[in-house]
Amino acid sequence: MKGIILAGGLGTRLYPLTHATNKHLLPVYNKPMIFYPIKTLVSAGITEILIITSGPHAGHFIGVLKNGKELGVKHLEYAYQEKADGGIADALSLGEDFAAGGPITVILGDNTTDAEIKSYVFHFKSGGTVFLKKITSKIQLRRFGVAVFDQKNKEKLVRIEEKPKNPKSDYTATGLYIYDRLVFNYIRQCKPSARGEIEITDVNNIYLHHQTLKWVELKGFWSDAGTFETLYRANEYWANKGGI
Ligand code: TTP
Repeated sequence: MKGIILAGGLGTRLYPLTHATNKHLLPVYNKPMIFYPIKTLVSAGITEILIITSGPHAGHFIGVLKNGKELGVKHLEYAYQEKADGGIADALSLGEDFAAGGPITVILGDNTTDAEIKSYVFHFKSGGTVFLKKITSKIQLRRFGVAVFDQKNKEKLVRIEEKPKNPKSDYTATGLYIYDRLVFNYIRQCKPSARGEIEITDVNNIYLHHQTLKWVELKGFWSDAGTFETLYRANEYWANKGGI
């Protein structure tokens, strides 16, 4: 299995910090943010990684990560998303050649987690897997894609709603997915949303339409670090834990 880290976007919610460098190079306790998703992948046995980045500070990655060897990465590639805020699925579309017809584990560059995903990676066969996390705060839920389950079968995921005003469950889609090669066809079927982005939620809903999307609950700590509040929370958690 190969891995793709999405580290594009503009990180506008972290201005003025992200005027200085790319969001994913900002510190989370004692490491640059992107070390965390790299660690998640490497711990799952994924050592061929593509980092997709964009924006004015894309060049800063090389100096920090070099060829990835110090982090246990055997093969590190970079790609550049031309429309910096084209959306998560737009960024992912750049990984098609790298994936070379095989399955991929995808993680957002601003996600930090200590969950183990190795067994899901190991047993993955086809379709897609989305990792959900229970969040009780409605305000938090409204920032993400939120799971909608079947009324009669509470285990059955029927839809994911992007940033809903009235979340229909407590389960948010984290920025961690496993996809088969069809993901790139599905991205091509997606049109930009009202906010002008190609949404990963639309891609997941296409998998659901084909009844090929599984979900699992992510165990352990998970937080993005893309707002001042969540950046602070991630720093606090990892500092208390003593880092990765
Ligand atoms: P977001 O936090 O939704 O977007 P952003 O990073 O541009 O931040 P802001 O809203 O503050 O401007 O994206 C989550 C992650 O997804 C981000 O850390 C990197 C990735 N991403 C891309 O790779 N390309 C994109 O076009 C977008 C929007 C996000």
